[in-house]
Amino acid sequence: MAKEKFSGGQQGAALDRVDGRQKVTGAAKYSADNILPGLTYAVLVESTIAKGQIKNIDTKKAERAPGVLAVIYHGNAPAIPGYESGGNPAKPPTGGEPFRVFQNAHIYFAGQPIAMVIADTYERAIYAATLVKTEYNREDHQTSVEANKDKAALPKGPRYANYVRGEADAYKNAAIKIEAQYIIPVEVHNPMELHATTAAWDGADKVTVYDKTQGVKSTQRSIMDAFKLKEQNVQVNADFVGGGFGSGLRTWPHVIAAVLAAKKINKPVKLVLTRSQMFTMVGYRPYSWQKIGLGATPDGVLTGLTHEAISETSTYEEFTDRTVDISKVMYACPNVNTRYKIIALNKSTPTWMRGPGEATGAYALECAMDELSYALKLDPIHLRIKNHADVDPVRNLPWSSKFLKECYQKGAEAIGWNKRDPRPNAMREGEWKLGYGMGAGNFNANRGRATVKATLLAGGSLVLQSAVSDSGPGTATTMTGIASEVFGLSPHKITFELGDSSLPPGPTQGGSTTTSTLGSAVHDVCVALHQKMAELVTTKPGSVLQNAKLEELHFAKEFITLKTDPSKRVAYAEVLKQRDLSDLEVTKDSQAGDERNKYSIYSFAVHFVQLQVHEATGVVRIKKVVTVADAGKIINEKTAGSQLMGGVVSGIGMALMEDGVFDHRFGLFVNNNLADYHLPVSADVPHIEALFIDKPDPFINPMGSKGLGEIANVGFAAAVANAVYHATGKRIRTLPITPDKLII
Ligand code: MOS
Repeated sequence: MAKEKFSGGQQGAALDRVDGRQKVTGAAKYSADNILPGLTYAVLVESTIAKGQIKNIDTKKAERAPGVLAVIYHGNAPAIPGYESGGNPAKPPTGGEPFRVFQNAHIYFAGQPIAMVIADTYERAIYAATLVKTEYNREDHQTSVEANKDKAALPKGPRYANYVRGEADAYKNAAIKIEAQYIIPVEVHNPMELHATTAAWDGADKVTVYDKTQGVKSTQRSIMDAFKLKEQNVQVNADFVGGGFGSGLRTWPHVIAAVLAAKKINKPVKLVLTRSQMFTMVGYRPYSWQKIGLGATPDGVLTGLTHEAISETSTYEEFTDRTVDISKVMYACPNVNTRYKIIALNKSTPTWMRGPGEATGAYALECAMDELSYALKLDPIHLRIKNHADVDPVRNLPWSSKFLKECYQKGAEAIGWNKRDPRPNAMREGEWKLGYGMGAGNFNANRGRATVKATLLAGGSLVLQSAVSDSGPGTATTMTGIASEVFGLSPHKITFELGDSSLPPGPTQGGSTTTSTLGSAVHDVCVALHQKMAELVTTKPGSVLQNAKLEELHFAKEFITLKTDPSKRVAYAEVLKQRDLSDLEVTKDSQAGDERNKYSIYSFAVHFVQLQVHEATGVVRIKKVVTVADAGKIINEKTAGSQLMGGVVSGIGMALMEDGVFDHRFGLFVNNNLADYHLPVSADVPHIEALFIDKPDPFINPMGSKGLGEIANVGFAAAVANAVYHATGKRIRTLPITPDKLII
């Protein structure tokens, strides 16, 4: 395939969100906004115990309540064929069996859906759900990582084996060493939009589902597998998705429950999770305990790095993330070893949450690097630059591109690092102590597979289609920008259609890969369309471009032009007109090549924080944030800037507020609502300077753009914790850093 240079053209560079008007005016339809004729409403009843068996469910009162159409529980639930034959409706991350809704009397976690009431109105369904009475045989449960550390075990599979490079635990023999333990509590995704599913069957073997999902194709596949349906008979729509952060990466049991309910009563059913159900039914970032040991020579050369982590999973699935992986690749250190274990607890399965693994690991590693810098009396930036990994130390391969040193420099300048008095507890602003802190991070910059269909219409406008969902980053906007640049057409004449499983297969939106994966397919389909147009115009008798060769043609500003004689040109619309065509279609499948065997492809970011800590109350006020990303070529500075800002906001939450509190006596969440589970609001978020190196990666894809969503918060919480230490001299190693931890 001919490659056309992507220059990140002017037209796409700061394109406003193509769907921005729909979003801010309320015209955008989210999953729960789809009101189908004859719609009914399902409400889930949850287990109040964390482990045991259902002894009895009394549904009679609920069934007799006004408007109730059905009450479904394990005793009467229709068979789910994919469950019975071992199908896998909600693919588990690594091992085990996904929770099978309404299939037996087992209780695996508190908040588990045990029954479902379907009624003609939402209010009647809520009321009837309160009438379902359940008796349990309760068993002793365990929900605490801290109380069960002795039960931690290596996850199955070679990739979780203990890692050793050089000598294990070498830090213990170093001239200068630190050792510290760090804790991050459970965090929940809780995007603004609640998870919601509306399902409507058409006969016995065809269903349409409106779902909040980060992957219309993966949800379609899950429903196909569970109900044994053909691909063309499962239609999944997600026109708009109001945030996800990872909670929309799996097809959760409530989705299967909604499809089951609609089948049972043969009417459309809508099921919207409550805010409290969002804490137990769609995953969470697992609790983690981490220990880091660092050793260095007196002048700051790392000689040993040990990273241990213990995290949690459910008893029915093995969830893992890459908590310790960042310590293997972040710094050039000859002796590195990591150990990662998980504990199976009576809780629902955790799942990936923004920066999964790396955000957790970077918090510990980047705090530890800060601790080491003080032990060495060395500037934390200098320490990092001194131990910069010039090649990938795990695979011993060159980086495809790496501008991490430039990130340090650019960020330090923007935050005013040189104004920092390096001594802790030394800077003040009235009653407030002043601190500066920084932390860095990386994330694998992957590229998957996608198919995009391009249709050039008679009027010269372009329609692009792919079955991807946009959980918020602005995918249609970014893709429009890429198409505008590559195809040579004003963005206003381009439409990108997504959120529909019947479109050509697109990727699941996760792991910071959408722009790389889908953008490459957009690039390739635009090039292929150029070729097709060239074939038509150069073989058209009488055309000014007749007999010209493809390489002699230039495609820009809606014209095909002869490079050697720009007076010879044909408008895109004219190409179709000459041939009497109403449209011209090309579909292109695109995926990565073998560049990953030759290079290590990562994105990098450095975060800087300036904050105040109030002396008497311990209140932390973040004054300024500078985040600098090496994410390759920036396609759209507005949407990319928003990605960084969103990551920073979630990082502020992680550092200062977010804490999923469990009462382990009952195995229940204490603060499963947004009044008690604190998130940053506008008043907590200062001016954020989102900066980019903006240099294309030569290898990852035709655009040169690397992933951005995850690195936006990998290392950010450490920057805050380090700034708090600099301000106060207090090293808080358990997140979140709430005022109570600073006044004692
Ligand atoms: Mo993200 S955790 O890849 O949705």
